[in-house]
Amino acid sequence: MEVVIRPNADAGADLVARVIAQEMRMNPRLVMGLATGNTMEAVYARLVQMHCEEGLDFSACRTFNLDEYIGLSINHANSYRHYMNHHLFLQVNIDLKNTHLPDGMATDLVAECANYERLITEVGGIDLQLLGIGQNGHLGFNEPLSALRSRTRVKILSPVTRAQNAPLFPRPDLVPQRAITMGVGSILDCRRCILLATGEEKAAIVARAVEGPITSMISATALQLHPECTLILDEAAGSQLKESDYYHWVFENQPEWAPFRAASPSIGKNGFQTKPKLGGKAVEAMSDVLE
Ligand code: GLP
Repeated sequence: MEVVIRPNADAGADLVARVIAQEMRMNPRLVMGLATGNTMEAVYARLVQMHCEEGLDFSACRTFNLDEYIGLSINHANSYRHYMNHHLFLQVNIDLKNTHLPDGMATDLVAECANYERLITEVGGIDLQLLGIGQNGHLGFNEPLSALRSRTRVKILSPVTRAQNAPLFPRPDLVPQRAITMGVGSILDCRRCILLATGEEKAAIVARAVEGPITSMISATALQLHPECTLILDEAAGSQLKESDYYHWVFENQPEWAPFRAASPSIGKNGFQTKPKLGGKAVEAMSDVLE
C-alpha cells in the first residue's frame, strides 16, 4: 500500500483523475471499477474537464460500479445509476452499453449478483478500481463483518451508513435498507486500487484502515493485502496517520510520482475552474437511457 497526502481535497481529486487518465491513455480498453459518494464528484468533474479540453477518450473503456441500492429504479434521483449518468457517463464519450451497475430492481437478486461477477470475469477483470471510504470503513457497501473473501452479494446497510447517506434523501427513512455490493474479495481481485478520502471526518477511519490491524470489522483494512493499492488523501483525512512524514517523502522523491507532483493549473484557490453542466445532447441521452 502507498499513501499520498495532497494539500487539499481538490488537489487529491486532481491527482486521482490524472492517474486514471494516465491508465486510460496506456490502455484505451481499460476496465474501470467506479465508486459513488460526494468525494468522487470532484474526480468525475476533473475527468469530464479532461475529456472536453484534452480529448480524454472514453469510447473503448468499460466500467463496473461497486454497488447499487436495492429498490431504487435507474431513474430514481438517488440511484447510483442516476448519479453516474449525471456526473460522468452523459458528459463524456463513453458507450452506455459498456457501463455496468448491479440492478437493484432485479427480481432474483442472487442471480443478479452472480451475473455481475460473471460479466466482470468475461471482460478479463477490473484493471483499475476507484474507491471511497465510508465513515465505518466500508468499501462499496461492505459493512462491518463483511468476509474478506466475499463476492458480489446483498448487504444490509448499517445504521451508520444509512445516517451518512441520509442527507441525500428527502427523508432519512427513505434510505434503502439493502444494497448489492461487490465483495471485499471482488475488490481485492482488481489489478490496481486507488482510494480517495478527504476531510477531517475521515481522518480516524483512514488511520485505522492504513495503520491498524486487518479486520473484517473495517473492510478498508483488507486493502493492506492488495499488491498495488494507492490511498490518496488530503491533509485533513491524513491528519491522524503516524507515518505521514514517510508518506510525504515517498511522493516527493520517488520517480514514478514526478509527473504528478505539480497540481494542475486548473485548480485555483476556489477549486476547479470548470464545473460540468448537463445540457443539450447529454440531457437527451439521459432521457433515452432512463426510459
Ligand atoms: C457510499 C458508497 C461508498 C462510498 C461512500 C463514501 O456509502 N457506497 O462506495 O465510498 O458512500 O461517501 P462520501 O464520499 O460521500 O463520503
